[in-house]
Amino acid sequence: MNDTAADLRFVPLEADDVPTVDAWLRLTTESAEDVPLSAAPHCAADLTGSVRFAPPDTTLAGEVAFLGGQAVGALRLVLPDGAPVAVVDQLLTAPKERRQGIGTALFRRARSLAAEHGRTLLVADVVQALPGGPARDEGPAAFAAALGATVSDGPEGVHQWLDLDRHDPSAGGVPEVPAGYRLQRWGTVTPDAFAIAVSELGQSLGASPPETWGEGPDAVRTSHVRRYERMRVGRGRRAYHVGAVHEATGELAGFTSASKTTGNPEHLLQGMTVVASAHRGHGLGLVLKLANLAHVREYEPRVRLIETANADDNRPMIALNEAMGFVPQERFVSWEAPVAPAV
Ligand code: ACO
Repeated sequence: MNDTAADLRFVPLEADDVPTVDAWLRLTTESAEDVPLSAAPHCAADLTGSVRFAPPDTTLAGEVAFLGGQAVGALRLVLPDGAPVAVVDQLLTAPKERRQGIGTALFRRARSLAAEHGRTLLVADVVQALPGGPARDEGPAAFAAALGATVSDGPEGVHQWLDLDRHDPSAGGVPEVPAGYRLQRWGTVTPDAFAIAVSELGQSLGASPPETWGEGPDAVRTSHVRRYERMRVGRGRRAYHVGAVHEATGELAGFTSASKTTGNPEHLLQGMTVVASAHRGHGLGLVLKLANLAHVREYEPRVRLIETANADDNRPMIALNEAMGFVPQERFVSWEAPVAPAV
């Protein structure tokens, strides 16, 4: 270990440790690289909220690396309940401090933290350039390889962006709703009547039978979507939804979700769109997305840049996005490393 890495002091990133959270926020914000159509600018409310509110069914573990009084690196792991993996959500060295072994020290801490939580595998999504696409920093993949990580069999995917100034897919209006369905809008909090259906559709991607998901006030209160909303609201995010209701049965046939951080008025994250398998083939996916874009723009007139990410095996959604004018900008590639490396 070189001198810099040996002098590091690791402090847990905990929501009530305000000075450490502030130092981490500054480091994360100041380290953001200005690569067009790669990531939205950091939003302080979103980042701060993310320390207190984990996604449902996960635990977060984070540490900030200090050199003297200065935060020079950060590490965040997401630990899904009941899984053998620790997902590296952030492993960051301050730009001015790179190539001195800090990243390696963070990686070592990642291994120790993952082992403390009983995990056997570290996984991380690494952003890479698309063949023929815009350039991306090759450092992260070189770093992962240098530390013995390998590209995994896990999902690879594509990050697509739509710039509404270049192409507005809603310029011609929202296509007609297919016969037998009606559209229903809602905002950040899903109405009770749809909470179970949205949880079931979101978790099963439209494939599993609804009877496995329970009903009644307790099921609504503890549903996946309610727990997800708790995180979203805690991060200061606003969400916009449109659902398709099957008129004959009253069932929710599908929905789409888009959300915004507080700090970036021009950026929108296009989240999940799902149509139950029994209701596919009617063009509902495109109708939902365009109707929701109109919904968002009514309340968020400054929205201009929309990002979305999909695994490669979700070709229909990638194609639908391309039809809307989304342009592929970069790949995300899944890397993995054993928590206890063979010696
Ligand atoms: N180009 C080529 N090789 C690199 C680079 C680079 N830009 N950066 C690191 N490496 C390799 C080298 O082999 C290096 O050893 P060397 O300096 O003796 O040649 C080795 O990785 C270790 O480098 P460190 O000094 O320990 O790492 P550093 O503190 O520079 O941090 C990091 C590397 C974390 C990737 C940094 O560039 C960064 O913060 N990038 C932005 C955040 C990011 O993309 N993180 C994802 C990391 S991948 C993952 O989590 C598995």
